[in-house]
Amino acid sequence: MAEHHPQAQVHPVPDKIAKSARVDRERFEELTREALENEDAFWNRIGQRVEWIKPYSRIKDVNFDLDDLHIRWFDDGTLNVCANCVDRHLDARGDQVAILWEGDDPERDEKITYRQLHDRVCRFANVLKRLGVGKGDRVTLYMPMIPEAAVAMLACARIGAIHSVVFGGFSPDALAGRIIDCDSKCVITADEGMRGGKATPLKKNVDRALSNEDAADRVDSVLVVRNTGNDIDWDADRDHWLHEALEHVDADCEPEEMNAEDPLFILYTSGSTGKPKGVLHTSGGYLAWASWTHEIVFDYQEGEIYWCTADVGWVTGHSYIVYGPLANGATTLMFEGVPNYPDNSRFWQVVDKHQVNIFYTAPTAIRALMRGGDEPVRKTSRESLRILGTVGEPINPEAWEWYYNVVGDGRCPIADTWWQTETGGILISPLPGATDLKPGSATKPLPGIKAALLDADGKELEGATSGNLVLTDSWPGQMRTVYGDHKRFGETYFAAYKGRYFTGDGARRDEDGYYWITGRVDDVINVSGHRLGTAEVESALVAHSAVAEAAVVGFPHDIKGQGVYAYVTLMAGREGDEKLAEELIQWVREEIGPIATIDHLQWAPGLPKTRSGKIMRRILRKIAANEHDQLGDTSTLADPEVVENLIENRRQV
Ligand code: WTA
Repeated sequence: MAEHHPQAQVHPVPDKIAKSARVDRERFEELTREALENEDAFWNRIGQRVEWIKPYSRIKDVNFDLDDLHIRWFDDGTLNVCANCVDRHLDARGDQVAILWEGDDPERDEKITYRQLHDRVCRFANVLKRLGVGKGDRVTLYMPMIPEAAVAMLACARIGAIHSVVFGGFSPDALAGRIIDCDSKCVITADEGMRGGKATPLKKNVDRALSNEDAADRVDSVLVVRNTGNDIDWDADRDHWLHEALEHVDADCEPEEMNAEDPLFILYTSGSTGKPKGVLHTSGGYLAWASWTHEIVFDYQEGEIYWCTADVGWVTGHSYIVYGPLANGATTLMFEGVPNYPDNSRFWQVVDKHQVNIFYTAPTAIRALMRGGDEPVRKTSRESLRILGTVGEPINPEAWEWYYNVVGDGRCPIADTWWQTETGGILISPLPGATDLKPGSATKPLPGIKAALLDADGKELEGATSGNLVLTDSWPGQMRTVYGDHKRFGETYFAAYKGRYFTGDGARRDEDGYYWITGRVDDVINVSGHRLGTAEVESALVAHSAVAEAAVVGFPHDIKGQGVYAYVTLMAGREGDEKLAEELIQWVREEIGPIATIDHLQWAPGLPKTRSGKIMRRILRKIAANEHDQLGDTSTLADPEVVENLIENRRQV
């Protein structure tokens, strides 16, 4: 079937931006050419963004073959990531605001200069040292969006400890699993977090996570930030208040000299099979890539106020709230709250209040705000805005146009940035001063990035086409391994297509070479820009005593992009009713966390399987999307009646 794609409206680079941009068309061409023709010179340019303690002599040492899979960049250089993000700015901009914090409560904010940040990070690092945390130790952070979250990350980096930030919306069980997987000896949390006027019981969740003996055995200390000040339970042998611990330390803390390839952090992310994987990023290459991409993609200019609305629990928060912007000496705004509290104008009120120039958010937030109409946006000025960005999932052209015309008043280029936890930083994105925009397209790979589209057999497709998105070569920000499981790293990313990194995404490339990401082609659902493995939700469901079998798929959802659709087969003798459905939905939220909220649960007397017993998810996806007239080939089904039954019951929904 020939695909038809209407000609997208092109938004050319605005003249004003083209003139002042760090990278204009000509420069973009030059960089792209250099990356192809003189690879070392190009990567050296990226490597030079870092202030090295001992300069590197080797640039790249990479092999994507499974039998000798390794990725190393600048690997004989030494540095300290925290010193790069903080100390190196003290002379030139010690009194400039580094972190501009805006509270959930609009009355609360805080400005932290680079000098103050240095002081706070050093003291925090000394507290960690006193708790026995040192180079190479893992520290789990379970934090609200308060400055201490960034301070704690930087403090770990300063002493060479490896942080693993777990999003505050994950359940105690999910937290325990992550503490165990990376063998954390210390957990950093707060009494409670505040979002949208509601408190989340972070410390209580940590206590519950540590009621798991495997987790408790590993953790010597829990460091607690007093945030809301409400009462919490206390274990005097294990728990330490940060404000008390700070009384015993000073602000002298030499940054640890780290190798470029020493780990900086672990971040757990969902894949198509098994438990979430600990994505491991190292120091030198990661920082260089985060810093360079932050500068060119957002055209960051000296003195600008930059705001990324992500949570530090996700990779976007790591690379584009903390490491990239701070490495560049930017003022990075950190927001504790949500887009609709106290009301739907909040984002734009914050933009006006702090005169934000660059604003980076997710399509799901844009769609939700778009629903509230133009008025909450129009009543604010937003004149300070210069560049807009989006990340996390494909942005539909309607939402793109609304973002462009209403939020940006038709003045601000949008950077639709495609990347992943695994890629460490942005790989495909327009550059504001160099790339004409097509709504819904992430446009072109950045200089140095070798993207390709493959068919199912691994044949590289040329020209305008659709296929599976791979990267045929490395870049400095690439993940290095799955923590503790290098074999899984190979199997997950390099086994599908020999010698190439498989992203798990499908994409179309048009006649201008623009990429249009179509979404995951594996069993990962992208709910509001958050990755959820169908296998995780299924194993949570079958852990319930009433459930015999479950299959989970994504389906199109107006606001979330994708919603979670669960087909559940009950144990013999159990009746499926509303009450049990509610119970199961609640059960999964408790097992994984509120991001794993099933939007639709359907009782399935049977699941469609091949004769060899494999669940045919393709069919389940079609039924969930109400496209059961397009089931495709069903000839391998073991029992066609099962499908009939599911369609019947779907229709009644
Ligand atoms: C999706 C978030 C389309 C994609 C940084 C990817 C996108 C997954 C875009 C990674 C975009 C991210 N357009 N899809 N601009 N950005 N994605 O690891 O499916 O949370 O594989 O990293 O989000 O999600 P992750």
